Amino acid sequence: MPSIDATKTLVPYWQTSDHNTVRLYQGNSLDVLKQLPDQSVHMVVTSPPYWGLRDYGTSQWIGSNLDCPHQPTKAEVLHKCMRSNNLTPGGVHRSQFENERSRIVASWKICPKCGAKKTDAQIGSEATPQQFVQVMVTLFHEVYRVLHNNGTLWLNLGDTYSSGGNLVGIPWRVALALQADGWILRQDIIWHKPSPMPESVRNRCTKSHEYIFLFVKKMGYFYDAEAIKSPATESHLNRQKSGYHYNDEEGRKSAGANTIIGNREIFTSNKRSVWTVSSQGYSGSHFATYPPKLIEPCIKAGTSEKGCCARCGGPWVRVVEGKKLTRERPNDYVKRTGENGTGNSCANTVAGVDVKTVGWKPTCKCNADVVPCVVLDPFIGSGTTCCVSISLGRNSIGIDLSKQYLDHNAIPRISGELLARPSLAHLVGRKPKRLNLGKKLA
Ligand SMILES: C[S@@+](CC[C@H](N)C(=O)[O-])C[C@H]1O[C@@H](n2cnc3c(N)ncnc32)[C@H](O)[C@@H]1O
Ligand SMILES: [Zn+2]
Ligand SMILES: [Zn+2]
Repeated sequence: MPSIDATKTLVPYWQTSDHNTVRLYQGNSLDVLKQLPDQSVHMVVTSPPYWGLRDYGTSQWIGSNLDCPHQPTKAEVLHKCMRSNNLTPGGVHRSQFENERSRIVASWKICPKCGAKKTDAQIGSEATPQQFVQVMVTLFHEVYRVLHNNGTLWLNLGDTYSSGGNLVGIPWRVALALQADGWILRQDIIWHKPSPMPESVRNRCTKSHEYIFLFVKKMGYFYDAEAIKSPATESHLNRQKSGYHYNDEEGRKSAGANTIIGNREIFTSNKRSVWTVSSQGYSGSHFATYPPKLIEPCIKAGTSEKGCCARCGGPWVRVVEGKKLTRERPNDYVKRTGENGTGNSCANTVAGVDVKTVGWKPTCKCNADVVPCVVLDPFIGSGTTCCVSISLGRNSIGIDLSKQYLDHNAIPRISGELLARPSLAHLVGRKPKRLNLGKKLA
């Protein structure tokens, strides 16, 4: 696994004393990503700023000298005014002076006085959805490079209504654009919120969902279905036993399960694509944080619980025993069309995989140490991704533009998460700021 070269300019804003468990970088995500090595993280889970939640604040100067006003001097502005308008110093009108001044500042990407980098308003304030999509494509293009070839990207996106009442469709616009950029879109997971934000609308439904898109670089990616399988429901078990019959919407009659379960009464099923998770998360911040329970399955399925090869980053995988419980008869429709699963009216086609983990094995031949997998969140905000990573024994990297969020939310929260664990408390390198906001992670 390529590790970050400490001699390079990229300096963490905060990190655990082992330099590995948690590392936070402050800055524009794209700039930071560009300095991370190829294939240096196993999975990415993130919630970028939503488009349209506009922040009309002034541009920010990154790495700025606090004393520098990031402005040209009066003489410089005057000189430019005179040159471009052919005027004498006394002839320059105040508005001409102001226009020239802001034109000069607008043309700067770097402050010539102190070398600070200018970032325009945060992501999310782009003028059009198309521009926002382009920003996302560029950013995730860099994520693609940083992600291990067997890795996964779990992208949470919310939608907004335009001023004309039109649903913008941001999540799918971004999803299709990333697909066009080379990502394989594997799934649209629905995050169902059982108690959504109340809305005063009477001419449409109250919105109670968001998307999590699962993207990969290639098939054969790491995905630990075992880690997130759900308990079989009562009805599921009954159907498995009785070979139930079911009429689908088009009236096709299907012979269902004739599965022999053996002597095992309870088995588990593959996690479904609609996830019900209540949206209340961390209350210490005023911006959208995602609930730990939402991303727990992403990290569990997307990274190996056992860890990975210290040399090449290849994840260890489960050695399982047992077999898939297959149906003896495919249903009529599938038989007729020869399609695999399509139109199968039985909901439980691949359910009932009766497996037991008996050990773990490497996927490479390096014969090196086993180290924790690495999770990356390029928009770490209040630190949720790092906190959940800690609780699952994964290493994590977080990036955020806002020093404010890092200082007042992410760092104290992550420190609290470490201090709550006797075996990890020593990793909090320096005394963390007191966390007096929010509640503890579940
Ligand atoms: C929706 S919040 C992420 C919340 C996070 N998932 C959590 O649970 O706390 C988006 C974050 O992106 C950050 N952000 C906005 N533009 C950015 C940029 N260009 N680079 C890095 N971070 C940025 C914001 O400061 C904000 O913290
Ligand atoms: Zn400056
Ligand atoms: Zn290896």
